[in-house]
Amino acid sequence: LNERLSHGGELEKFSNQYGIAVDQWLDLSTGISPYCYPIPSVPIRIWQRLPEQTDAFRQAVTDYYKISNWLACSGTQSAIQVLPKLWFNKCNKPSQIWLPRVGYKEHEHAWRSYLNSVIQYENLPEANDLTQNCVVVVINPNNPTGQVYQKQVLLNLANNLKEKNGLLVIDEAFIDCEQEEIFFKQADDFTNLIILRSMGKFFGLAGLRVGFVLSNQEWLSDFENVLGIWSVTGPSLYIAERALKDVEWQKMQKQRLFEQGNKLTLLLKDIFDTNVNGTSLFKSFKSKCAVDIHHQLCKHGVLVRLCDEKDRLRFGIPDNAGFERISSIMSKLKQSF
Ligand SMILES: Cc1ncc(COP(=O)(O)O)c(C=O)c1O
Repeated sequence: LNERLSHGGELEKFSNQYGIAVDQWLDLSTGISPYCYPIPSVPIRIWQRLPEQTDAFRQAVTDYYKISNWLACSGTQSAIQVLPKLWFNKCNKPSQIWLPRVGYKEHEHAWRSYLNSVIQYENLPEANDLTQNCVVVVINPNNPTGQVYQKQVLLNLANNLKEKNGLLVIDEAFIDCEQEEIFFKQADDFTNLIILRSMGKFFGLAGLRVGFVLSNQEWLSDFENVLGIWSVTGPSLYIAERALKDVEWQKMQKQRLFEQGNKLTLLLKDIFDTNVNGTSLFKSFKSKCAVDIHHQLCKHGVLVRLCDEKDRLRFGIPDNAGFERISSIMSKLKQSF
């Protein structure tokens, strides 16, 4: 349980393994945008004072997420880690936990610290699968499969869980580029519904460590009690406010991610002759040769994510220079794949 899970981005490990200096790699192993929000210079007073969530910050968050009940946290990972403890404190009864079989494994890791057995689902549980106090975690869109659930499907699930006094967790870390219709904004209408949003992926600011929990006031207070009142630093709040308000930049970001993502899909289809899934923040495909392809690319200093099941590769979106580099490497390797 104490073992750390493997995620993308561990360049130093691969640099040592393949004997290629860290700065020579093209790192496509995460779903973090290659274009990050331009970091403004942070006034000295922001460093000197304790973090303060000003009215302007609150307004920026409420406008961007179009929901007024939220809590800023130090990345959604911090909320994922404490959620099982909060749930068991609250419901104080045994619960069945439904988790996607394929998906960001930190959810499973967190729930398994409290329970040995969880149910790994391929398809969302139906109404008659749900037991009293059960928990369902949905990653929408799923990372790494890219599967998207429509809002009505999740609303039905939320209503079914309500009858069982259950909990629905919707992890929307990769949703920013999707159609607004699928965004879930009804967190307030349910007793036990938690939505997670991250500034790490779309804004390309994973190091800023800013995420949001959207839920009702009772849950938000529970989270704040364990995460603390200063869990997001002043400089992070300052930068996040500007990024969330910058609608023009967001439009441009969506457009270029969409275009680069389409180019990547075409390239992967051409080279691997396969179906490519994903979002505007990553593309993935299944392959029996995933381990070998991963190794071949590493030999050329290109790091992609070999997914946990070892049967799928996930490619982050490259910028133009990155795209030129992988297309030339992959065209040369095409015969060997
Ligand atoms: C699906 C999903 N949710 C949440 C996270 C955590 O992101 P963060 O803590 O940066 O918000 C990740 C990170 O990769 C992720 O893939």
